[in-house]
Amino acid sequence: MTTAAASSASQYSQDELKTLVGQAALKYVAPGEIVGVGTGSTVNKFIDALATVKDSIPGAVSSSVASTERLKALGIKVLDANEVQRLAVYIDGADEIDGKGYMVKGGGAALTREKIVAALADRFVCIADESKRVDVLGAFPLPVEVIPMAAGQIARRFEALGGQSGIHAQIRMKDGAPLVTDNGQHILDVRGLKIADPLAFESEVNQWPGVVTVGVFAHQKAAVCLLGTARGVQTLE
Ligand code: 5RP
Repeated sequence: MTTAAASSASQYSQDELKTLVGQAALKYVAPGEIVGVGTGSTVNKFIDALATVKDSIPGAVSSSVASTERLKALGIKVLDANEVQRLAVYIDGADEIDGKGYMVKGGGAALTREKIVAALADRFVCIADESKRVDVLGAFPLPVEVIPMAAGQIARRFEALGGQSGIHAQIRMKDGAPLVTDNGQHILDVRGLKIADPLAFESEVNQWPGVVTVGVFAHQKAAVCLLGTARGVQTLE
């Protein structure tokens, strides 16, 4: 990915950067087209911006219960993914994005539906503040949605990964109990990884029994990243 443009020269808070990229993503929304919508605090800014043009689009396909609720509260129609054959664009945030557009996602536990909606789209537009830009994926604990009865063996497989040491996988907790995803499953967060080959890593982990979705988005990488920086929004493509 190379930098195509940068705008103004002032300092922004992280929240303001999220607002900036959320608004900037509107230019990828074509009138008359259904939009694929991701999940998270950055996407919430995009949803707020989308509400300003809601009369020009038929609706959105959402990647989580949380985004669905926000879209509906703002008067944006939400369509079931099964009603849609293709989307021109899917707009979502990331926990990490590298120079090739490969991402780690799932910090909001919505990775499976995010991958499903992204798979309907011709183009993935990632919106993120610059803290998400990395050279090598893996510093952010990798979210993996798992079938609960397989969590132990999947954790052990990560911890035994060849060539790496110090890997630790833990069930994500909420209010003292394992977090339950929108799909009724659990999340393993895997710390200590260095994901040198995201395509191969995603393919391998996806085949482990009990893995619903691994939070590496390499086969469905971002075609464009709108990165919020101290100098404004940079477009990487
Ligand atoms: C949710 C995600 C989010 O896109 C990711 O966690 C980034 O969230 P935020 O914009 O709040 O930093 O993958 O599952």
